[in-house]
Amino acid sequence: MSAEEPDPLLSGELTLVGRITDASNATLVCDAVWGESIVRCVYKPIRGERALWDFPDGTLAGREYASYLVSEQLGWSVIPHTVLREGPFGRGMVQRWVDTADRRGDGTVGPDLVDICAPDAVPEGWFEILQAIDMDGEPIVLIHADDPRLQRMAVLDILINNADRKGGHALEGLDGSVYGVDHGICLHTENKLRTVLWGWAGTEVPGVLIGDIAGLISSLEGDFGAQLGEYITSDEVVALYERAVDLLDAPVMPRPNGRRPIPWPAF
Ligand SMILES: Nc1ncnc2c1ncn2[C@@H]1O[C@H](COP(=O)(O)OP(=O)(O)O)[C@@H](O)[C@H]1O
Ligand SMILES: [Mg+2]
Repeated sequence: MSAEEPDPLLSGELTLVGRITDASNATLVCDAVWGESIVRCVYKPIRGERALWDFPDGTLAGREYASYLVSEQLGWSVIPHTVLREGPFGRGMVQRWVDTADRRGDGTVGPDLVDICAPDAVPEGWFEILQAIDMDGEPIVLIHADDPRLQRMAVLDILINNADRKGGHALEGLDGSVYGVDHGICLHTENKLRTVLWGWAGTEVPGVLIGDIAGLISSLEGDFGAQLGEYITSDEVVALYERAVDLLDAPVMPRPNGRRPIPWPAF
């Protein structure tokens, strides 16, 4: 983007399109309008953040933005373009909306990258994460694809310590990229990794990602650490650094531990 072309997400006027009613925070869908440019986006005002016992009030938007910065610093672009700015309900985070393919509604076959199916319908090579019983008493399984785009997201989650990687927070965009959304409860100092993406547990982190993690470590030793410190605490920046160093020392995808390794609801 050139200096003459302002970022509509940052500078455009936000007009309300709707509200996501099943979201846990005030999550609004808006259009950011700058001249002829219109960018569909999600706007989460800080004052609409639900209070949580384990994360300080009013910090979720900053965590979303800091997570975006980490994804960009790694060069992975897993998180859609995100900014912090003023909006009709005050300061908040604004993130580009990802248009997704409706893989069930448009005639194409096959489950979403993270999905639920009958135990005998698991596609070849996919991971089974959880067995459950549906409302009618039938067995079902939570599955996800063995897809490198999804695994890179799982590695990002380890680094940012994502406490809420639900199935519905992994979106396959129409552009062919896989995007993660909802990073409000990330970057805590204590291990809170909660995710549906456990399929690679105990396997090696893909070699192509290792250099990027090393680059993140170097950047955290420099200006990037200070930049992140504007949005999360210095202890949280240190904890991010330590997670990255630990992962580089032992590049193995972690196994679930703790009381609640899968977020609930899972979608
Ligand atoms: N950038 C985005 N692009 C497309 N869909 C999104 C985006 N952000 C959120 N969503 C959709 O909106 C739902 C609710 O948003 P989410 O960020 O999870 O809000 P909350 O913090 O309230 O849980 C998500 O599960 C997803 O389906
Ligand atoms: Mg959510």
